[in-house]
Order: sequence, then structure tokens, then C-alpha cells
Amino acid sequence: MCGIVGYIGSREATSVLIEGLSRLEYRGYDSAGIAVHDDGEIKVRKFKGRLSVLSDHLKQEMITGTVGIGHTRWATHGEPSDRNAHPHTNVAGNIAVIHNGIIENYMKIKEWLIEEKGIAFKSDTDTEVIAHLIDHYYEGDLLKAVFKAIEKMEGAYAIGVICKEEPDKIVAVRKDSPLIVGLGKNENFIASDIPALLKYTRDMYLIENDEVVLLTQDEVKIFNELGQQMDREVFHVTWDAEAAEKEGYEHFMIKEIHEQPKGIMETLMRRLDKEDNIVLDGIKLTKEDLDKISKIYIVACGTAYHAGLVGRYAIEKFAKIPVEVDVASEFRYRDPFVDENTLFIAISQSGETLDTLAALREAKRKGARILSIVNVVGSSVARESDDVFYTWAGPEIAVASTKAYTTQLVAMYLIALHMAMTKGTMDRTKYNKIIHELKTMPEKAQKILDNCHMIQKLADAQFNNESVFYMGRGLDVNVAHEASLKLKEISYINSFAIAAGELKHGTIALIEDGTMVVALATQDHLYDKMLSNIQEVRARGAYVVGVAKEGNKEIEKSADVVMYIPDTMDELTPILSVIPLQLMAYYIAVARGCDVDKPKNLAKSVTVE
Ligand code: F6R
Repeated sequence: MCGIVGYIGSREATSVLIEGLSRLEYRGYDSAGIAVHDDGEIKVRKFKGRLSVLSDHLKQEMITGTVGIGHTRWATHGEPSDRNAHPHTNVAGNIAVIHNGIIENYMKIKEWLIEEKGIAFKSDTDTEVIAHLIDHYYEGDLLKAVFKAIEKMEGAYAIGVICKEEPDKIVAVRKDSPLIVGLGKNENFIASDIPALLKYTRDMYLIENDEVVLLTQDEVKIFNELGQQMDREVFHVTWDAEAAEKEGYEHFMIKEIHEQPKGIMETLMRRLDKEDNIVLDGIKLTKEDLDKISKIYIVACGTAYHAGLVGRYAIEKFAKIPVEVDVASEFRYRDPFVDENTLFIAISQSGETLDTLAALREAKRKGARILSIVNVVGSSVARESDDVFYTWAGPEIAVASTKAYTTQLVAMYLIALHMAMTKGTMDRTKYNKIIHELKTMPEKAQKILDNCHMIQKLADAQFNNESVFYMGRGLDVNVAHEASLKLKEISYINSFAIAAGELKHGTIALIEDGTMVVALATQDHLYDKMLSNIQEVRARGAYVVGVAKEGNKEIEKSADVVMYIPDTMDELTPILSVIPLQLMAYYIAVARGCDVDKPKNLAKSVTVE
């Protein structure tokens, strides 16, 4: 986890670093720090707490200098504290390091540094060993010392290093954690991701794994692990930095919920030609390719995993190919049956989730073809895949994923439909009907959003619940899981999702007077069964919030309150039914006074295991 940023040029480094870190706080926000060359010394300031603690402190005691590195932390080794905050330095304080990732063999290195060199460690972090290792190898050339140090380091890392004796340099390394370089005029930057630098430049180098970068004010040199200099094309960012701002909304999350009609439209319309055929960017899935595929794995984490559950339904139903969905952290350790006839689909908003990336690599090693559905262009998952389908959600800043999820659903439907038409498992009439319906999704999503005040009223009355249950059948169970995750992660209410048919096998024991149950009943062929399940929980005193399609009024007899979604085909309801539940989670969290965009213990992108 964590975010890193570095600057070398002629501006005040402190303000560039703070600005960059403010865009990276989503990667972790339990402490922050900077190290800047100031008057022949490296000055370090680092504090537990949000970035504002650091910047308030810097207002009292400014550090001036034009070269520096900065870090925002999400604790892995060592509790959040001033001493564990980055940057970390060697004993003499002439080398400072920032790090995102984990040094897996840090204990071994630490023991060696203590026994052989008598080093007294100042923190509990794995990162501190890097500063001492570089110091150990330093003989007047920082780049060489870093090369030697990384030979000893195992794990995942993106690091930035500065050295008092070489104030005109930053050295950075990427191994399995994201790193980009920003290119300016007489100034250069490093960062964990693109938005951190957009205020200063749109020209970037995307750094590959195992590459080492040497930055000076006028030049950037990239080396591979053998020390050979590499050529790199400039990656020009075309999207707008403004898109990452709140635009008048109170939180990024509510802004992003409201951006869903646009995200759905962009993701869909960019893939349809004039005859409504699906054009999947450069992805080539011919009939021959598809006939060879004996199995598809969809692998992801959290919300993206929930999108995968809907993806399984769509692919199996439309294209008749068996699909297994797995959480990435399990997939990689269970020796899954994967071979060259397997298609592996990774879903990831950030494209940097370590478990997803590791699962992808494992599947690739076993010969699978890799297709990824990713939001962040140029991210690691995208770069390591054979084929990429980019969702067009735009930058997602709030920790709780919303627009990424609905665009991932659209991506899954398009891939499933494309497979079905290529394989010949769906006729054109059915295809046209689904495409026609998909095209109505932005407008229907907007209709739900226009009604958000009713949901806010409900949330204002119900925000004090200690636990909330979500239930549904068929496709609705998948949405129930996503809605439950949304509520718990931002409101800290203990929520739980279950297939309604499973209730009687144990969970119904927890229902008592006033327990809130959200019952999704959008599937026509399962509607009556859901009404019975609602009766069962109502009989035990539950307060039931129903979710149903407009026109299905029967549910009003058994639910206390009903959120309606516009009528649509059963197959496509997840795109719509999740929206009122995202809104409900948001308004409940606001009513409880929670920090909606930055929930406790979480970070936007989980780049550690
Ligand atoms: C929840 C949420 C997470 C992410 C998960 C995967 O709202 O955002 O569960 O979905 O951490 O992240 P990506 O999609 O970036 O791989």
C-alpha cells in the first residue's frame, strides 16, 4: 500500500510533495512524511495521522529546498506512529528512503545489519533496512549503491532514494509496486500513480518491473536490472485532472455514484459500431479461440469480485462456457486447474491489487490466456495481460468503489455477448434486444439518482441499526453481497449478505424485532419465492426494505418500504439495483458522521498481500 512521490527541479519541493501526496492519500493515510535537501542537509519531517498533520507542521517550520521525496503510509510492519512513518534514514541521516510494498526478507537483513554492523534501528518497519543497506554499499555513487542493495531485497517495492552527498539526484526502483516518472521542463517527478502529478505534467514514463531510474533536474535515465539503459516512449495523459476533483459534491463517493450514467454510457458506446456490433478494442477472441477454451476463471478482490459473480452468470447463460469465480487471494494458493485452454479474466479498478496481479501471473505461468478488465490505463494488471478491456469510469477516488463496479458489469455483459455471438450460442434477435436494453441503462440509472431524496430520508431514519442483512435470489444475491460490502466498509455497521433460500438453514436465528433486512426481488421468475422469504423475516419482527422493479407492487404488502428500479430484463438488473443501495449506504454513513471517502483501516488500492 502507501503512496510515494518525488521531485527534482527548481520549485519549492515541499509544496510539490504535499500536493502530490494529497492525490495519493487514497493509498493510505495513517501517517505522512517528506525528506528534502535543505542547506546541505537532508531534513526529514514525518508524523502519524492524515497529511494535514504534516502540512500544518510544515507551515510552522518550513523546509526549503528543490529536491525531495514524500510518502503517505498504510501500515504493514509497525503500528502507525511518527517513528514508523516514512521517509526512513540510515544512522548518519545522509540517505533517505520512501517505500511502497513489503520487503519479505527484511528480518534476515535486519539481523545481519545488527550483528555485523551493530546498527540500532529507529523503527519497526521493513523499510528501514533499505536505508541501511544502501548506506552499507555506498561508495560515492548512489545509483551503484541502490543497484547493490536491491540484489539483496526480496518482495514487492517501489522506492525513492535521496542522498546528502548527491543533492542533484533521485534514484527510484520498481519491483511489483507501481511507479511512474513525470517529465517536466527542467524538472522531473516520481509517483505511485498518474493523478499525483497531473497538476505539473501530462508526460510520463511508465516504469516496468525491475527497472531502476536515475532522475536529475534535466534528465531521466531508466536501467534494467542488468544496468543497461532502456529506451522508453513518453506516455501522454489525455484525461482531465479536473475529473479527479469533487465538483461541488460533498464527497467523492456521492459524486462518483452520480457519474454512473456517464461511465455506463462511455463503457458501452465506445464498444458498439454503427450496426450495434461489439468491437472489443484490440481483443481478438475468434471462434477458433473460443472453441479451444474449456474453462474460464474470473479472479478479483472485493467489489471487483462481486462484478465477476455477475460476469459468470452472463458468460454461462449467453456463451455457454463454464466459469469459475475466485477471490484472488485464494486462487493463487490453491493450485487451481489451469492450462493453455483456460481463459483467465482479471477484474481490477486500480490494476494494482497485488493479489489479483499475483493470481494473474500464476495463471499466465500455467499457460492461460489473460484478459483483464481494468479502469486505470497503463496499470500493472493491464500491462501484464494479453488483452485489456478498459472500463471508462474515469478516476475513482473514494475508497468505496461504485462507478467502477457498474462499468465492470457493463464490460462483463459486452464480453459475454461478444463470446455468444462469436460462438453462435445466441441469435441476433435476442442479441439486439439485450443491446437495445443495455443502451437504456444510463437513462434508467439517472432516473434512480433523480429519486435519491427518498433514499436519503430512509437512511436518516435507519442509520442507527447495529446490523443489516441483505438477501436475494439468483442474480440478486450477487448484488446483495456488493450492497452489504458497501454499507459495512463506510458506515461500520455489521452487515451480511445471504441467498434468501439459505436463511432457514441458520441465519434466520439472528432476526429479531426491528432487525433491518434488505430484500432484493428483481428477478421475475423468483419474485414469488422472495415474497415468501420476506414474509418469513417479517414474521420474526424484521424491518424490511424491498428492492423491486417498477410495476411489481405486490411486494408493498410485505415490505415496510420499497425502492423501485425502472423495469428492465432480469439479466441486466444488477446494473440498476445496486444504485439505490449504494445511495443508502452513503447516506447512512453520512448520518453516522463517518469519514465516507476514507474509511478507517482501508486504502483505495491494496498493493500488499
Ligand atoms: C470496495 C472496494 C474494494 C476493491 C478491491 C479490489 O468498495 O473498492 O473491495 O474492489 O480492493 O480493488 P481493485 O478493483 O482496484 O483491484
